Amino acid sequence: MSIKEFIDLRSDTVTLPTEEMLEAIRNAELGDDVLGEDPTVNRLEQMAAAKLGKEAALLVTSGTQANLVSLMSNTNRGELVILESESHMYWYEVGGISSIAGLLPWPVRSKRGALDPLDVEAAIRPRNIHFPEPALVCVENTHNRHGGAVVTPDELRLISEAAKGHGLRVYMDGARIFNAAVALKVDVKELAKHVDNLMFCLSKGLSCPVGSVVVGTGEFIEKARKVRKVLGGGMRQAGIIAASGIIALEKMIDRLEEDHVNAKRLAEGIAKVDGIVVDLERVQTNMVVLDISGLGVSDERFLSRLGENGVLASTIGKNKVRMVTHRGIEKEHVEKAIVAVAIVADELRRGFA
Ligand SMILES: Cc1ncc(COP(=O)(O)O)c(C=O)c1O
Repeated sequence: MSIKEFIDLRSDTVTLPTEEMLEAIRNAELGDDVLGEDPTVNRLEQMAAAKLGKEAALLVTSGTQANLVSLMSNTNRGELVILESESHMYWYEVGGISSIAGLLPWPVRSKRGALDPLDVEAAIRPRNIHFPEPALVCVENTHNRHGGAVVTPDELRLISEAAKGHGLRVYMDGARIFNAAVALKVDVKELAKHVDNLMFCLSKGLSCPVGSVVVGTGEFIEKARKVRKVLGGGMRQAGIIAASGIIALEKMIDRLEEDHVNAKRLAEGIAKVDGIVVDLERVQTNMVVLDISGLGVSDERFLSRLGENGVLASTIGKNKVRMVTHRGIEKEHVEKAIVAVAIVADELRRGFA
């Protein structure tokens, strides 16, 4: 079976560019972006800044690079960064926060992805000869390991007030910030206004082949541009990346709602399967987390049987399987995926597989 034949629910990063994006890439006006001369990159950066309500923006290669550039531009080496204990930066970015940025990550647990402002306050230790200087509070929206949970404008405001009260800056890993805005039915600026800077990914639900964008004040982005360069992220005719980003910002945001509807459908269907538990209240955007402990098998076993039945998903921890909807996953795929999960769960529960 070729990968195209599977119903691929591993991530929204598997989305392919649209025909319109490929056409825009083909026709993009190009220049040397390290010299600031790529008109397509400049246009994308201006569009992104305006959309998020910030002064300036910077195209980078990936979400991981966006986070690293932002961490390094917000801090000095040796400082302390407060982040949510399940955050992508803490789990999945190869420890670059320590090994490259030279920072001390200070993980704080949350119930559903949004840090409790009281926990933020408690994590900010007084300035003292023994302690590293606290510099930054990071939030993730939507929150990946919390199953695509949204952090609301009010929650962001309170987190930000707690941080600002102690002179700390606030950064948002908004890899999927447009999913949050669409789910909450708010202008994305309402989310962005509570943080000093943020990033969002073009290459996830927005369907671009490559790229993320860092957004903040003009001064911050000037610094970030230099940090991107030292990390090897200065790109030349990057307009071929930016061209698809422009289409994404113009045309791909509103359709994220379809992914959310499909995630709900998927969750409701799977919730009826014996041996699997889905917390429907936690399905807020394009992710569904399945608790498969009732099947009595490993995640690997479940995923491999599911794969043999044409559906791909991933594990985010023992007995926790994650499915992500995205462009290319339609209602009929959701229905087929529910049937496949039901068949596999039944076989595994009865010990036939
Ligand atoms: C919340 C979050 N931040 C950052 C990233 C990193 O993005 P990339 O894979 O483009 O490096 C991801 C990727 O899935 C993510 O989910």
